[in-house]
Amino acid sequence: MNRLFDLSGKTALVTGGAQGLGRMMAEGLLGAGATVAITSRKPDICEAAAAQMSALGKCIALPCDLSSPEAAVDLAERFRNAAGDKLHILVNNAGKTWGGPIDDFPDKAWPGVMMVNVQAPFTLIRELLGELDAAGTTDDPARVINIGSAAGLSPQHLSAYSYSASKAAIHMLSRDLAGDLASRNINVNALVPGFFPTKMTAHMRTEEEVDPKLLSQIPMGRLGKADEIAGTIVYLASPAGAYVNGAQIPVDGGLVGCG
Ligand SMILES: NC(=O)c1ccc[n+]([C@@H]2O[C@H](COP(=O)([O-])OP(=O)(O)OC[C@H]3O[C@@H](n4cnc5c(N)ncnc54)[C@H](OP(=O)(O)O)[C@@H]3O)[C@@H](O)[C@H]2O)c1
Repeated sequence: MNRLFDLSGKTALVTGGAQGLGRMMAEGLLGAGATVAITSRKPDICEAAAAQMSALGKCIALPCDLSSPEAAVDLAERFRNAAGDKLHILVNNAGKTWGGPIDDFPDKAWPGVMMVNVQAPFTLIRELLGELDAAGTTDDPARVINIGSAAGLSPQHLSAYSYSASKAAIHMLSRDLAGDLASRNINVNALVPGFFPTKMTAHMRTEEEVDPKLLSQIPMGRLGKADEIAGTIVYLASPAGAYVNGAQIPVDGGLVGCG
């Protein structure tokens, strides 16, 4: 059974892996045996997170602000230099949101969100195709896992218009790329979280309590936990998930599926 979820000898890159969901996923991949490179915008936070996670396995800090395609190109180059010529698992997790009432929703809430959530993942995939090609085999393809959102599958009434549109876009982009890259032994899937306790959902809860209105919309009546996102990423990245391609996997307590 362990062989099914073993990532020993594999290399992963998790954008935004220093905190939040990215960190939960990076820790899961490290625990399964992978070498993991993480990014964060602040170099000191990135270095500190990598140093802490090194207790679990080899973790490399690659500070990066993905606010431009050039930054994604540069990140790919630095990954190559730091981690070598194979990339088995690319997790495009870094994400940005913007919420505001429709009447005042500003135009400036669009380009940054679309850049970080859609264009940077695309550029990173394109720039790392050589390393993904080198890592994948017919029986054990390289994996690209793009982090989408339940808000990109069904309306969550968050008034986060550019965000939900960007997440629908990354879901579609994942399917498009999955079809184009399958013959190159690169699988592309979208992991679709519901609500997890991170900075992004801080306005919906306090330390002690989650907004009851939000909980009432989640069939399982609670937020997701670190192990639940880590377990799903390890499954999608490991031999157990080798035949999953072009899928959108909700991890959301039934939010989308039961709606
Ligand atoms: N939490 C949820 O309930 C939930 C639900 C659905 C989907 N998601 C998705 O899950 C992913 C992670 O979000 P989270 O919940 O962990 O939120 P978070 O705590 O706010 O984390 C956002 C992550 O994105 C990175 N990031 C933001 N802007 C960036 C930029 N310009 N360049 C590079 N990195 C940037 C951050 O890195 P630094 O701050 O370290 O620089 C951080 O790691 C996102 O794609 C989000 O849309 C989350």
